[in-house]
Amino acid sequence: MAQSARDGFTSTFGVLLATLGSAVGLGNIWKFPSLTGMNGGAGFLLVYLLATLLVGLPVMIVETMLGRAARANAITTFEKVAPRGQWWWKIIGWMGFLAALLIMAFYSGVAGWVYAYVIKAAMGEISTTDPKAAGAAFGALVSNPVSSLLWQWVVLGVTGSIIMLGVSRGIEAVARKLMPLLFILLLVLCVRSLTLPGAAAPGLAFLFSPDLAKITPAVVLTALGLAFFKLSIGMGTMLTYGSYFREDQNIPATTTRVMLADLSVSLLAGIAIFPAVFAFGFEPAAGPSLVFMTIPAVFTSMPGGTVFMTIFFLLTAIASVGAILSLLEVPVAILSERFGYGRKRASLYTILAIALLGVPATLSQSVMAEIKVFGMNAFDLYDFLSSNVMLPLGGILICLFVGWVYGLPQLEKQLGNDGSLPNRGLIRAVFFLVRYVTPLLIALVLLHGLKVF
Ligand code: PHE
Repeated sequence: MAQSARDGFTSTFGVLLATLGSAVGLGNIWKFPSLTGMNGGAGFLLVYLLATLLVGLPVMIVETMLGRAARANAITTFEKVAPRGQWWWKIIGWMGFLAALLIMAFYSGVAGWVYAYVIKAAMGEISTTDPKAAGAAFGALVSNPVSSLLWQWVVLGVTGSIIMLGVSRGIEAVARKLMPLLFILLLVLCVRSLTLPGAAAPGLAFLFSPDLAKITPAVVLTALGLAFFKLSIGMGTMLTYGSYFREDQNIPATTTRVMLADLSVSLLAGIAIFPAVFAFGFEPAAGPSLVFMTIPAVFTSMPGGTVFMTIFFLLTAIASVGAILSLLEVPVAILSERFGYGRKRASLYTILAIALLGVPATLSQSVMAEIKVFGMNAFDLYDFLSSNVMLPLGGILICLFVGWVYGLPQLEKQLGNDGSLPNRGLIRAVFFLVRYVTPLLIALVLLHGLKVF
């Protein structure tokens, strides 16, 4: 990641890996399985795949393009690329600023659970295949207000210092070397999970044989929200990363690769988890706790389980760092470029804001569980507002801007790297999608999912 605002990524392969580092995170290992489990399995997966291809990828391409065209943070970009007088487009950037804070407020809490599980795994405290014991271990962690807050602050301390000390490049280098290992461990988990007695058939049916009756408007909105969350789009992260892209980077090719790799990690996580859910008698709709109970159970049932379990949670913790750094980059770039703060001060203010916002989210698993707004506790509310409302709204606005204001000639110039890439047909297809199809699709899903009609 870039150290100072207008630093850039130094190699095209580095760009790919940094972008992948933003996309792959707790979204794959924690959010994707829990949402798939809670929303009926295969039907949800099907909608999620469609949302990723028809909505996610086009938005990811044009959002990244805007950042590289303007080479600025999420707010300044719209001042630079919008026609004079059309100041309102920069609302997209402000909304992204808020969404980044909201996401980090609960995301860092979940990352805290993962950090705690590294230690618990190493001590053998979570080596059980019994759903009751696994639930009790997870419950003991999240329902303790002091330890869950402390772990969240550890996460904020770690990621904040990485950004402040300017060692993010080093971290990215470490992360990129370790990610293949995470991939391999997931593969091992899949094999073990699928070979557990009575696991493969119900597990694979749950994931891959859709029951269309379960696809309600709310389920569709959740799948769309996940597609945005997974690809880090609709709130300025990809835009900000795009601003560090090289001129010769092939944006459509890079984003497509990231999307495919990200999808594979999620699918592997799903195949690692659901067969085991049925083999051990876990509840697929358990929600946020699902991964924290099922993954330890699969490891416990294989030789060397404790060691591999510890490594797995450690790698997941590292993967979450890449995602958090990219989230932090949105407010940090805005505060440093627009308000003239140094990077350190900008990072410090951002971390403090997240720590404050994070308290209700983290305590909603314990002492603040009963405090609800729109029937949701703070954790669920932050998640819902960001993924299911702000990111899709950001997506609509980005599409409308590119499709109706920015226009095809500029899009061709940017995505074709000034005519040096032979991809005109592809650019036209992207333009058609973001002008007519994608914004309408998002709007329909959003309004219907929110029960506006
Ligand atoms: N894509 C990340 C994940 O799945 C989360 C994220 C969302 C990161 C939005 C940046 C912006 O874990």
